[in-house]
Amino acid sequence: MVSGQRIMQRCDTLARHSELPGGLTRVFLSEENRAANELVLGWMREAGMQARLDAIGNVAGRYEGNRPGLACLMLGSHLDTVRDAGKYDGMLGVISAIECIDFLNSRQVRLPFAIEVIGFGDEEGVRFGTTMLGSRAVAGALDPAVLETRDAAGTSIAQALRAFGLQPEKVREVARQKRDVLAYAELHIEQGPVLEAEGLAVGVVTAINGFSRLRVTLSGMAGHAGTVPMGLRRDALAAAAECVLAVERIGRGDAELVATVGRIEAQPGAINVIPGKVAFTIDVRAPRDELRRQAVSSITNEIANLCAKRRIEPQIENLQELGVAPCAGWLMAQLERAVAAEGIPVRRLPSGAGHDGMALKGIADIAMLFVRCKGGISHNPAESITEADAAAGAKVLYRFIENFQAGP
Ligand code: GLV
Ligand code: MN
Ligand code: MN
Repeated sequence: MVSGQRIMQRCDTLARHSELPGGLTRVFLSEENRAANELVLGWMREAGMQARLDAIGNVAGRYEGNRPGLACLMLGSHLDTVRDAGKYDGMLGVISAIECIDFLNSRQVRLPFAIEVIGFGDEEGVRFGTTMLGSRAVAGALDPAVLETRDAAGTSIAQALRAFGLQPEKVREVARQKRDVLAYAELHIEQGPVLEAEGLAVGVVTAINGFSRLRVTLSGMAGHAGTVPMGLRRDALAAAAECVLAVERIGRGDAELVATVGRIEAQPGAINVIPGKVAFTIDVRAPRDELRRQAVSSITNEIANLCAKRRIEPQIENLQELGVAPCAGWLMAQLERAVAAEGIPVRRLPSGAGHDGMALKGIADIAMLFVRCKGGISHNPAESITEADAAAGAKVLYRFIENFQAGP
């Protein structure tokens, strides 16, 4: 049977590959990413899969069906993390999928479809600001111009791919055709408190909220903190502080909306210098695309107004936008049957967090299974799940795979 214990051990093992000693930070195309990929490639091969690294840095494994070359049920999640992350966000989905294949392989079961498991190299978008590079490439939705996006050190995605030993000019070849992918299903921790509050190990996702990511740069005038009178300053950080509060106020304007400034940097960054330049990010999410777009427009207008009053020049860049991704009814029904067969009451719930299915919906219908996490805590080292819930999630996923029927 699938082993909750092995799933937990593998999450622990992967978490050792971190740029942060004593914590977990593993960004796209880093040395830690390379070490994690090697582990996952090994686990896939042990589970009877053919496994390789694709041109965008995804770990891709394939378990053939009852004859070679069949269209696949695609499973997966991501192997990158946020900064100071928990060890289950992303990794649990990849490891649980491999665990299911291992069980099929141990019984020499071949199904009337192939199964592919993908450990996406970038879902969080921490290094380059733009997210889901791995799944967008698989969906054939990665504009080659995106490969010129640079990280904080000025390295482009294309350069980073090359330094990793990959060939950016081959990224197009990662794209899969609709006819090759019967469906995409992802197991992921809930990252919210609903399942825990209701005493449920797993839940079936109805839809993934859409998001917009923006980068704002405010240019004022650096100057001496002791000599320039308050009324004559063009302080970019004081202006940014007002902008951050405006983002929060607008985010609070609708119960379905959330808006966050997650990163801010002031330059030149010295105790005795008025900040002349500030850059910050904005993340806006909602279950309705129109609501999110209205919020983005209110935020950009408000930033322009606040900056005009302070003689600050704002520059706003739309980094990325992905619309709401509904899960397919026919896949939800199959997942629900698997949940019920494990004796777990069926609970449907939406996802506030983003997931690779948002990109993959371009080539396949998508489904997601959430596993309960402690206190709803995620994107935090305190992220935690129980071994029993890891086992329950993997058992449901296994039943779903074994009974999977392609098409509504
Ligand atoms: C990914 O975790 C996201 O929702 O940003
Ligand atoms: Mn995450
Ligand atoms: Mn995730």
